Amino acid sequence: MNNAFDLVEMLEGRRVVVVAGAGGVGKTTVSAALALGLAARGARVAVVTIDPARRLASALGIDDLGDTPHRVDPARVQAAGMRMEGTLDALQLDPQATFDRLVAREAPDEAAREKILRNRIYRHLSTAVAGAQEFMAVERLHELVDSGHYDAVVLDTPPARNALDFLDAPERMTRFVEGRGLRLLLGPRGGVGRTGWRALQAGGHMVMSVVERLTGAQLLTDISEFLQSFDGMYEGFSERASAVRFLLASDSSRFVVVTGPRPEPAGEAIALWRRLRDDRYPLGAVVVNRVHPQPGGADAPPAALAALLADAGAPDPEGLAARAADALAAARARSAADRHEIRAIAGALDAPPITTVPALDDDPVEVAGLARVTRELEGG
Ligand SMILES: Nc1ncnc2c1ncn2[C@@H]1O[C@H](COP(=O)(O)OP(=O)(O)O)[C@@H](O)[C@H]1O
Ligand SMILES: [Mg+2]
Repeated sequence: MNNAFDLVEMLEGRRVVVVAGAGGVGKTTVSAALALGLAARGARVAVVTIDPARRLASALGIDDLGDTPHRVDPARVQAAGMRMEGTLDALQLDPQATFDRLVAREAPDEAAREKILRNRIYRHLSTAVAGAQEFMAVERLHELVDSGHYDAVVLDTPPARNALDFLDAPERMTRFVEGRGLRLLLGPRGGVGRTGWRALQAGGHMVMSVVERLTGAQLLTDISEFLQSFDGMYEGFSERASAVRFLLASDSSRFVVVTGPRPEPAGEAIALWRRLRDDRYPLGAVVVNRVHPQPGGADAPPAALAALLADAGAPDPEGLAARAADALAAARARSAADRHEIRAIAGALDAPPITTVPALDDDPVEVAGLARVTRELEGG
């Protein structure tokens, strides 16, 4: 399927590109391919990847798990048949490191900073609080944009249970840090009040998931310390969250929604696109990844094919011809199903810009494979 427009061109000049979608659909791949395309055209680009396939991380030179940007060697890109007029830096998100830097910036003094970093509730935040990873991803984005080193930052998004979680994360995180939920735990005398537990069980599952990991007498001290230390920082947090929301909602940003040509991820993509539209986030395009191309060529009647194979001296020409016909029919059916799904997405969304990437035989985990995806996104 030929794409009607060039997605890289559509994104040129934007400072932020957010790539979202269901788990496993190809967000990381598409993020890297778009970043590569923007860099090829002359921009200074950073791509924040999340859980890249191991071989992709090593192809990008970021398999050391640190969250500092690494320059992708332009010679590698040129070897893949692509020009490189700008620069491409890649990094992996490290939520805890990002949060530690945020705390270091916002903490009023050294003592307060140390106290927070040691706190057990804090230490569990990035893994136990729903939306924490999303919050850190956006925070990392903010850091990179603020650094002034980049014309464009492409943000891959965490594999959320639901892609919509991404949008709610900053607010949920600020609410958590604000501590209303945690405060409920502390009864009037500083112990855990019965009402507190009940309220938590009713609605505070996010808080519970942290608290359940911590037991013992230390817990209450941890909670009150956590609340105390964040008291002076809450404002900084919430300002940061609004700044991010403002940036993401502005014309400097674009959202790209990735899906596979299957009902489940497509359903998530449709819901995500609608939500983005309703909340007035700037929409880019829907990328349908791993689409099976329509097999070319006319149908040869199996008998004619068998005769050709017999002439060529193939053993069991009838059997071979029948299997070839079956394989062709299966490929046709798969391709038809994919196109049907793409039409369904287009119909559900009032014909948004949709672009497709074919299912490749080799996973695009080398620079050459990424460049191939980039060219598809540029219109094939
Ligand atoms: N168009 C494609 N053809 C073949 N394999 C692909 C394609 N796009 C992605 N992949 C592979 O599928 C796997 C999941 O892709 P990834 O980008 O990591 O998805 P996500 O970030 O959404 O979880 C990876 O191994 C990747 O190399
Ligand atoms: Mg990923």
